Amino acid sequence: MKKAGSASDPLWYKDAIIYELHVRAFQDSNGDGIGDFPGLISRLDYLQDLGVTCLWLLPFYPSPLRDDGYDIANYVDVNPSYGTLDDFRQFLDAAHSRGMQVLIELVINHTSDEHPWFQAARLAPAGSPARDLYVWSADNQRYKNVPIIFSDTEKSNWAWDEVAGAYYWHRFFSHQPDLNFDNPAVIEEVLKAMRFWLDMGVDALRMDAIAYLYERDGTRCENLPETHAAIKTLRAAIDADYTNRCVLAEVNQSPTDVRPYFGDGDECHMAFHFPLMPRIYMALRQEDRLPITDIMAQTPAIPDNCQWGLFLRNHDELTLEMVTADERDYMYLAYSADPRMRINVGIRRRLAPLVDNNRRRIELLNSLLLSFPGTPIIYYGDEIGMGDNIYLGDRNGVRTPMQWNPDRNAGFSTAVPARLYFPVIMDPIYGYQAINVEAQLSDQSSLLHWTRNMVALRKLFHVFGRGTLEFLSPDNRKILAYIRHYENPSHGSSETVLCVANLSRFAQPVSLNLNSFVGMIPVELLGYVPFPPITSQPYPLTLAPYSFLWLELQPAPESILPPL
Ligand code: GLC
Ligand code: CA
Repeated sequence: MKKAGSASDPLWYKDAIIYELHVRAFQDSNGDGIGDFPGLISRLDYLQDLGVTCLWLLPFYPSPLRDDGYDIANYVDVNPSYGTLDDFRQFLDAAHSRGMQVLIELVINHTSDEHPWFQAARLAPAGSPARDLYVWSADNQRYKNVPIIFSDTEKSNWAWDEVAGAYYWHRFFSHQPDLNFDNPAVIEEVLKAMRFWLDMGVDALRMDAIAYLYERDGTRCENLPETHAAIKTLRAAIDADYTNRCVLAEVNQSPTDVRPYFGDGDECHMAFHFPLMPRIYMALRQEDRLPITDIMAQTPAIPDNCQWGLFLRNHDELTLEMVTADERDYMYLAYSADPRMRINVGIRRRLAPLVDNNRRRIELLNSLLLSFPGTPIIYYGDEIGMGDNIYLGDRNGVRTPMQWNPDRNAGFSTAVPARLYFPVIMDPIYGYQAINVEAQLSDQSSLLHWTRNMVALRKLFHVFGRGTLEFLSPDNRKILAYIRHYENPSHGSSETVLCVANLSRFAQPVSLNLNSFVGMIPVELLGYVPFPPITSQPYPLTLAPYSFLWLELQPAPESILPPL
C-alpha cells in the first residue's frame, strides 16, 4: 500500500499558491524572541484567509545557523528553538485540516561541519567509508574551473581541515562540506531522511542546490549525468511508496540546463524559473517587454506532469547569475543604488523597496506572477509590502520578523526587543507601525486585501496553472499581451484569458490582433465587466500607467442561446 499525501489530485502542485515562510520569523509563542511551531500554528487562520494553498518552510532542523539553517546538523529532528517533532506533527495536521499542503527543505548537497557525519569523517582514516561521506583531496587544485557561489565570503571551493590533514570540497560556505554522492552510503542516508518526513505526511520537498551533487574533472561540476541519475533514484523511491507528493528543484541555471531536471516526467515535478525573475524587473525598468518575451522564447516545453515555480522574491539575494554581464550592470544600477544592497552576484532587497514602494508596480509584478505559466510563490511579508534592513549581514535583511500589528515587536514576540533573533523593521516608511497585517485587514484598499482578492480570483481558473501561453506582438513594446488557454479534459470545457500589462509609467494605447477570437466578448475578471466584442479589426485598448487587464474571452451570448 502506498502512503497517501494530503492532496487528492496528483497534480495538485499545478494549481497551488505557495507561501514561503521561515518558522523563526513568523510568530514567537513563548517570548524567547524566536518564532516557533506553536506560533506558526496560531497564524494558520491568517494564511488560510489569504488563500494560499501550500506552505513552504525554510529549514527548521538542528543547525548552528551560520547559513540560517541550510547548514544542517541533524536531518531528522526539529531545532529546539522552533519546537519539537511533536510540534511539527501538530503543525502538519493543522495545515492539512485546512486543506493546505506542506513543502519542506531537503538540503542534501552539503551538511553543517557540526553534523556528526563530518565530525566522524575528519577523525576517520583516509579512504575509510566514514571519511568518504565527504569529498577530500590532498591539494586544493582539483576542479579549478568551478565557480564560487558565495563570492563575497569564499575564495576557494576547497577548505583545509586540520584534523583530517586534507582539503574538503564545499560549493557554499566553508562550514558546509559537500556530501560525497559517489559513496552509496550517502544516497542511503538521504533516502532515510526523505522517508522520515514523507512517512509523517509531508507533501513536497524542495531539493536545495541540487545541481551540484557530483564532481568530475574537467567540468563545472554542475548538471552532471550522475546528478540526474541520483535525483531519478530519489524520485523512483517516492513514486514506489507514496502518492501525491512533489519534488521541487532549486537549480539556478539557464532554462535549457534546467529542462533535464524534469526528465521524462520522472525526475522533479517542479523547478524554479530563475532566469525569468530578473528579466521581469528589467522589463519593468526598461519599459519594454523584450526581456520577458525573449527568456520565455528560450524556455523549452516541459512534460505534462511538470510545472515551473515562479517567484518575484525569496529569502536569498535577487540572483543575477543568469543574466549577461551587461544586464547585470544594468540591474545593479537600476535596483541597488547603495552598494550595501548588493551581495554575491545579486541584490538583497525585498519586493516593495525594489520598486520604490510604488503600489502600482507591486500590483503589476504580482499580476505577472499570478498569470504566467507556473505555480506562484509568495514570499512572507510581501503581501503587506514589508521592507528590508540592508544593515543586517548576509541575506538577513529580508528575513526580519513578520509585522502583525503596531504593538511591541510588531506583535511577533513579547520578548524584550533586544532579545529578538533580528530587529523588526522600524523606519518611518516600512516600519511595523506603518506596515502591518492588523492595519491592512481593516483597510479595504490595502495591499493585503488586494493580494487576497487576486489569489482568490486566480484560484477560480485552471488556466493559469495549467494552460498554454502565447504572446501577442503589438507594435507598442511597452505592452505585454498574452493569451492563456486551457482545455479541461475532465469537464470538456475550455478557458481562454487575455492578459494585457502596461510596463510603462505613462498611459499607453495598444491595438491587438485578435483575429482568432472574432465574435467573442472579453470580460474583465476583477469586475466581471464585458468589453466590446472582438471583430476582425485590431482591438484597441488604453491602459493606465502600470495597469493590467485579465480578460476572459467568452462566446458571444447569441451563439450560446438557442434562437427564439
Ligand atoms: C540555497 C539556499 C540558500 C543557501 C544555499 C546554501 O541556495 O536558498 O539560502 O544559503 O542553498 O545552502
Ligand atoms: Ca519562541
